Amino acid sequence: MAPERRWRSPEMLKHVFAAMALSTVLLAPVLVRAADEIPLPRQEWSFEGVFGTYDLASLQRGFQVYKEVCSVCHPVKHLYFRNLAEIGYNEDEVKAIAAGYQVTDGPNDEGQMYQRPGRPSDPVPGPFPNDQAARAANNGALPPDQSLIVKARPGGPNYVYAILTGYKEAPEGFKMLEGMNYNEFFAGHQIAMPPPLSDNSVTFADGTPATVPQMAHDVTSFLTWAAEPNLDDRHRIGFKVIMFLIVAAGVFYAAKRKIWAPIH
Ligand code: HEC
Repeated sequence: MAPERRWRSPEMLKHVFAAMALSTVLLAPVLVRAADEIPLPRQEWSFEGVFGTYDLASLQRGFQVYKEVCSVCHPVKHLYFRNLAEIGYNEDEVKAIAAGYQVTDGPNDEGQMYQRPGRPSDPVPGPFPNDQAARAANNGALPPDQSLIVKARPGGPNYVYAILTGYKEAPEGFKMLEGMNYNEFFAGHQIAMPPPLSDNSVTFADGTPATVPQMAHDVTSFLTWAAEPNLDDRHRIGFKVIMFLIVAAGVFYAAKRKIWAPIH
């Protein structure tokens, strides 16, 4: 049979359709995600890519921004003080940071809850006792838990950075609701969070100038780490697995040649 005739045979067409169907199924999630995405300005992140790692100095600055600015409204529910050792604080520093917080403990022998200084084994306490109190203090809107926010939003760190730097004057004729703020990247452009950052909101211990983009970058890096503390390990293991596969492929190829040599 001539090759061009073979393509037209029903048997062959069946394979072609099967291949097309399979690739559509495999590609669909990628295409849907691409269509969903808000166009966000892309930032450079040290933790991106296969060889990406966290920049500890940036994470520590980001923790400072979280602590001094964002923690007034947002909890990081999954973070424990002892976790801060992973971003380069030593044992005494972790103890001192924890001791700087008051945490609720108890009940004591009289059945009362009481306040005591934090310990490394405590979770970082949030700003409000419950969601109702959080809403009441924020014009009815709930400041979301930040421990997973970077993972929970399409665009991840680029989205969080864009929100923090996306406050603008509302365009002419845009109807703003009472107590809301215009933000270019928030769905619907009206956000209950007032612009949290302004130049020099914090003073960085390492002398880095505390501009809005710098603080937004650092706090977003910190929140990315909070959402995915094991990224560095994952990259290290992934790299080792790839190296192993390359070496194993070489060994198998050599073995195959050796085994088949008498037959050729
Ligand atoms: C005065 C309280 C307040 C402060 C301070 C604050 N936020 Fe918020 N934030 C809110 C509220 C309220 C919302 C919910 C907004 C809404 O739903 O309209 C919010 C929402 C967000 C969102 C989510 C948007 C979404 O997609 O749901 C992000 C991200 C965020 N804040 C990050 C931060 C960061 C980072 C800081 C510190 C630099 C910070 N916020 C400081 C009150 C605050």
